[in-house]
Formats: sequence, structure tokens, C-alpha cells
Amino acid sequence: MSKYDEVKKQLEQAPKVWLVTGVAGFIGSNLLEHLLLLNQKVIGLDNFATGHQHNLDEVQTQVSSEQWQNFSFVKGDIRNIEDCQKALTFNNQTVDYVLHQAALGSVPRSIADPILTNSANITGFVNMITAAKDAKVSTFVYAASSSTYGDHPALPKVEDNIGKPLSPYAVTKYVNELYADVFNKTYGLNATGLRYFNVFGKRQDPNGAYAAVIPKWTAAMIENEDLYINGDGETSRDFCFVENAVQANILAATANDAGKNQVYNVALGDRTTLNELYSSLASALDANGVSYTKSAIYREFRAGDVRHSQADISKAQELLGYQPEYRIQQGIDKAMPWYIKFLTKK
Ligand SMILES: NC(=O)c1ccc[n+]([C@@H]2O[C@H](COP(=O)([O-])OP(=O)(O)OC[C@H]3O[C@@H](n4cnc5c(N)ncnc54)[C@H](O)[C@@H]3O)[C@@H](O)[C@H]2O)c1
Repeated sequence: MSKYDEVKKQLEQAPKVWLVTGVAGFIGSNLLEHLLLLNQKVIGLDNFATGHQHNLDEVQTQVSSEQWQNFSFVKGDIRNIEDCQKALTFNNQTVDYVLHQAALGSVPRSIADPILTNSANITGFVNMITAAKDAKVSTFVYAASSSTYGDHPALPKVEDNIGKPLSPYAVTKYVNELYADVFNKTYGLNATGLRYFNVFGKRQDPNGAYAAVIPKWTAAMIENEDLYINGDGETSRDFCFVENAVQANILAATANDAGKNQVYNVALGDRTTLNELYSSLASALDANGVSYTKSAIYREFRAGDVRHSQADISKAQELLGYQPEYRIQQGIDKAMPWYIKFLTKK
């Protein structure tokens, strides 16, 4: 039995209370769905800055009504510490684990508005981790980012070797790691960071100026609109299906002492170029009866983007028992029917 199966079985036998911040967003709502399916109690916090009520509504359709009763939602903003405290004590529940996902993602958004990104990602983070420390939660797991590798040239990326950040967003995510380490050393809080590498899957928002590449291109292909590739298309990323990220969160929250208070890469350990990604998406859509009749348009490289990204995932494998269950193509195949349904019902 895999470590993940073992942990899921234990959680089902002895359910815990989880606080998921950013629960109405992409990764947060996938965490919610999986935790409820494991009969866990979940409190969710979100201010709908980039998340949506329809994500929560969709989760409701994926779980039983008894499981849905285990979910409480607090509409609030992590930039107000009272909202963080309210979520941690909601209905007098004692939270065991925090999965802190709430933040403003996107490198370009942070370049356009560094103050806004800083307020959610640093002030909001310090509020949330302080409230978690005061509430004496067992473990605080937070969404870190592969952007922390910045200008470090080595591939694959190993946790201890980081470079200088290339964007305000990357600064904020690195500062999260510094705070988490200091909160562990000064207050004894268990805090574990998950450096996500280009997570994708259902409910990742295809709309808006700051949409990520997979939902953005998928939407363009389904709607037969122009699709742009930044640079020559040989930029590469370690695309990680969201269910692998869910696994990493659950393993990190429940880790033994050796696995706690670490920062982990969460990815596959593979590298896919944008040109390869484009072909994979086009063929997955084709298999679902959607043909893209235009050609991709190549344009300038984008500011703040790193050229190549690929994770070494051995640390998470060794200390957490992380074994990603989905390769990129399996993830794309699983996500495509959802995108077709979501985008064609508009
Ligand atoms: N998706 C990725 O590939 C990726 C990669 C690296 C890191 N991350 C990190 O993972 C986390 C989740 O990302 P996502 O892709 O699900 O993004 P998302 O935008 O779908 O989700 C973020 C959620 O946080 C909420 N939020 C934002 N500011 C808030 C505030 N001030 N108070 C309360 N809620 C707030 C949003 O409304 C949204 O629901 C973020 O911390 C992001 O930086 C994501």
C-alpha cells in the first residue's frame, strides 16, 4: 500500500478538522473536494478575489450531502487578522491542519501591481501564520512556489539551491518561506512549504488577463480564438496535475517529525516545452471532438519568466512518501472534458 493510501485510510478512520484558505480558488477547491470525499471536516476561507462561488457549488455536486455538511465557509480576507482568527475558531472547532492557499498568483499581476500582491501574499501570510500559531494548530502547510528558484541556472531544481527572485511575486513566495522557518524556530510552529511547479487541472480559471497557460490555451482552442506562444516555444515547465498537489498537501500535513518543517518541490520531475504542450492540448481536444483550425502565433518572451523549470522531487518522495499518480498527459486527458463542459455552457 502506498504511503498516500495508508494516510487516507487513517484519516477516514479518525477524521480531522482542516482549514483551507483560498478554498474558492483552483487548488483550494480541489483540496476541499478530496478532503470531503475522505469524510474530513473542512473550514474554508476566501474573499473571492480570484476564486468563485461556482467552484464551491461544483464541489457540492461531487460529494454526498452528508459530506457537504462537513464544510463551513467563512467569507473573509487574510489581510484582516480577525478574519483569520474567525476561520480558525469557527463554530468552536479546533483546527488540526491549515492548508494555506490564499494568495494572489501570477508573475505579470505582481509586476503590474506589486503593492496588491505584497498585501495578500506577505501581510496576509503573516496574519494567517500568526493566527495559526496562536490557535496551536498541529501543522501549517502553505503554497510556496517554484518561482523561488529565480535566476538559479541548475536543472533539475533542488530545494536548497535557489537564486535571486525574478519578480515581485517570487519575492513574496520566498518571504513566506523565511517567515515559516522563523515561526518554527521562534514559536515551535510546524510549518511546511510546498513549492508548486505549474499546477493544472479542473477549475483552474481560463478567464482574465492573468490566466495560466494551460487553461488560457485550452479556452482559445475550444473557442477557436488566437493563441499566443511567448518566445520560441522551447521554454519548458514541469507541469503538475492538481491531484498530485492534493496528495502532497495531505502527506505534508500528516508527516512525521522528519518530514515536517521543510520546503518541498511538488511536481513530476519532467520537463515539457510549450511547443510540446501545445501539441498535447490540441490532440487531447481533438480526441474529444474539438478541432483547432488556427495556428499558434509566436510573440516576444514575457518579462519575469524563467527559461526552464524542472523539479527534483526526491526530497518529497523520501521524506513524505510522495508518489505523483498522474503524468502530464494523464492529467490533460482528465482535465479536458471538464474544460469543454465549462466553456461551452457559458
Ligand atoms: N497554480 C499554480 O500553478 C501555482 C504555482 C505556484 C504556486 N501557487 C500558489 O498556490 C496557491 C493557490 O493558487 P491557485 O492556482 O489555486 O490560485 P487561485 O487564484 O485559483 O486561488 C487563490 C485563492 O485565494 C483567494 N484569495 C486571494 N487573496 C485573498 C485574500 N486576501 N483573502 C482571502 N482569500 C484570498 C482567491 O479568491 C482564490 O480563491 C497560491 O498561493 C498560489 O500562489 C500556484
